[in-house]
Amino acid sequence: MNTWRKLRRTILSVPANNMKMIEKSAGLSADIIMLDLEDSVPLSQKDEARATAVKAVNSGIFSGKTVSVRVNPTGTAQIYKDIIALAQECRGKIESVIIPKTDRAADIHFAEGLLRSVMAESASDELIYIEPSIESAEGLENISEIASASALNISLVFGIADFTASTGGRLTSLSGHGENDESVYPGHRFHYVMSRIVSTARANGLYPIDAPFGNFRDTEGLKKSCLTATALGFEGKWVIHPDQIETVNSVFAPSQEEIERAGAIIQAYENAGSNKAGSAQIEGRMIDGATLRLAKLVHEKAELMKNV
Ligand code: COA
Ligand code: MG
Repeated sequence: MNTWRKLRRTILSVPANNMKMIEKSAGLSADIIMLDLEDSVPLSQKDEARATAVKAVNSGIFSGKTVSVRVNPTGTAQIYKDIIALAQECRGKIESVIIPKTDRAADIHFAEGLLRSVMAESASDELIYIEPSIESAEGLENISEIASASALNISLVFGIADFTASTGGRLTSLSGHGENDESVYPGHRFHYVMSRIVSTARANGLYPIDAPFGNFRDTEGLKKSCLTATALGFEGKWVIHPDQIETVNSVFAPSQEEIERAGAIIQAYENAGSNKAGSAQIEGRMIDGATLRLAKLVHEKAELMKNV
């Protein structure tokens, strides 16, 4: 049984140096709360933010919620302290650590080694999983090795702004997070990157998670960004502001119309099967085994929605 099969539509990033935001996040309807120790925390507050994250996770405010923590990248003076503190003090209370700026499989081996060594100290069998964040040209080149680097991996996350910087791509908006990517390039300028992340994640049994959309006042832009991500196969998307949660939750969940259409396809296929036919038609459209698999994915997501 895959214990981490659950809705992962929204992952709310919450700066771990901000107790007010942390407390607020516990009452919001994001599927996952991600406490951030990396880029939303200034260097001078790293130790304090780590202690705040550990305290918040143990305070009980997140009871019934899935929580993850983004640690600092490999090679920084913080990552080993982050991982050791979380593995020692938050086991069973956080699902995963996100490893930002994962450039190569060795980054994941390092994180796994540290995690497993601390976890070996305790009798608990609760695991802390790993989510590599792909946000550099090097990370994208090494994505297959990264994805298969650890049995603890559960997802691949797209880090859009750092990826753009690493490739020398232009800053085409104020935040650098997902705005104008369609208008500056025919199609979408990250189509290749996003598709690569989706196919590599799925090929390795991991969840592809899309980057956040920086303009939290632009609901239409956010919706468009979600539609692009869901069309490609992303499982969920980071959000950076409470106002983004509802839109992302709704686009990443199947609509009633999609659920009904999937039900009709499954029914028609079953009827065709009982007549010994491998394909059938609905309203002049051919459906076959592949259509059935697509329809079953919709129903699987709809089943998960029942637990919300
Ligand atoms: N998590 C929890 N609460 C949040 C939040 C977040 N990510 N972002 C905003 N809020 C809260 C605010 O504290 C405020 O609460 P209040 O009404 O109880 O006072 C409310 O939501 C409205 O916030 P608003 O005033 O519109 O924005 P802001 O100026 O407080 O914050 C940002 C704007 C961008 C600084 C903030 O959303 C943020 O820090 N986001 C996360 C950034 C991040 O994690 N980056 C790294 C990952 S890419
Ligand atoms: Mg980044």
